[in-house]
Formats: sequence, structure tokens, C-alpha cells
Amino acid sequence: MKVVGFTGSPRSNSNTEILVEEALKGAGDAGADTAIFNLNQMSIKPCQACMYCKSHEGECDTKDDMQIIYKEIQDADAFILGSPVYMWQMTAQAKLFTDRLYANFKTGFEEKYGKKKMALIFSQGNPDETMFQEYFNYTQTMFNFLGYDVISVLSSQGNAVPGEVENKEDIMKQARKIGQDLAKG
Ligand SMILES: Cc1cc2nc3c(=O)[nH]c(=O)nc-3n(C[C@H](O)[C@H](O)[C@H](O)COP(=O)(O)O)c2cc1C
Repeated sequence: MKVVGFTGSPRSNSNTEILVEEALKGAGDAGADTAIFNLNQMSIKPCQACMYCKSHEGECDTKDDMQIIYKEIQDADAFILGSPVYMWQMTAQAKLFTDRLYANFKTGFEEKYGKKKMALIFSQGNPDETMFQEYFNYTQTMFNFLGYDVISVLSSQGNAVPGEVENKEDIMKQARKIGQDLAKG
């Protein structure tokens, strides 16, 4: 059992990354191998819409760090995408990652490697927990449509300062639980 996390914040001591790490701790406690990748520190180009993947069994022709990620997802049983909310959406780093998953879409990936479990984790500055709910639901529906099984969407509000989520016991507990759930076969 392997659970991998991808995080889309450019900040050090990022609240998003803290939550994803906590989820991975939960997965680790439940017996999973874990790994985390910071998308901001990786070289990931935008999808070039060349459609090479559609005639090459999901292989992406853009040979950048996304190739590492494709392999990680292929080998994992579950993965987490964590992103801060920027302008009511995921960050550009997380969106590049998401667009590039197009390579796995309708190319036999699911049949070959199984339906991967997934969780989404968001951190936002605004304290209103309902504010971006529509976007979170929409994103969950999109990933389900892409062929993943999104079992949880966690959002944490009012995180303006790096690292402050660490003191929010309840949300940290929820993150840990998500990891445990992802690690269940
Ligand atoms: C460019 C930019 C855009 C942002 N847009 C929003 C937004 O639309 N809504 C919101 O609640 N917070 C917004 N924020 C605040 C972040 O979502 C918030 O600080 C978040 O907790 C950062 O996560 P991190 O600590 O993982 O980087 C924005 C921050 C930046 C830098």
C-alpha cells in the first residue's frame, strides 16, 4: 500500500503542506508507505495539447518532472492533492499538475493500474467555510470524472500565516483520518 502527496503552495511552512504531511502520517500509521512532492519545486510545463498521449497508451511526450509524478501515481494506491486557494481556485502549480493528468484520461490507465483513491486538501485565508464549497465540490466531481475515486475533500479556513494550521487540532485530526482512510485497501 502506497499513498503519495502532492502540494501546490510556494510557501515554506505552508499550511497546505502541513495538512498533507499530517494525512500522510495517518496513512503511515495505518501501514502505508508514503512520499510527498512539492509541485512548486518541480519543473512541470503546461499541457501542450499535442494528443501524443492518446495514441501512446497515456505516455506524455513532454519529458519534464511530471514523468516522475506519472510513475509515482502509477505505483501508488492512493494520492492526495493539496493546494491553497488562490483567486477562488487551486494554485497554478496544482493546475499544471491537474492538466497534465489528461495523459492518463481515457487511455486505459484505470483498466491497467486500477482506480486510484484520492483526497483533496485545501487551505484558504478567508474564515468562511462555505465560501469556496461550490468550487471544492466541482473539483471533486472533475477528478471523479477523470477516473479517480475522491473519498475526501478537506478544507481549512482562516490560514493567513504560514504554519498556523498546526495549532488547529480538529483539522489536523481530520487530515490524519483522511490518510488512514486512504490507506485502507
Ligand atoms: C495570490 C494569492 C491569492 C489568494 N487568493 C485567495 C482567495 O481567493 N481566497 C482565500 O480565502 N484566500 C486566498 N489567498 C490566501 C491563501 O489561500 C491562504 O493564505 C492559504 O492558507 C495559503 O496556504 P499555504 O500556507 O499552504 O501557502 C490567496 C493568497 C495569495 C498569495
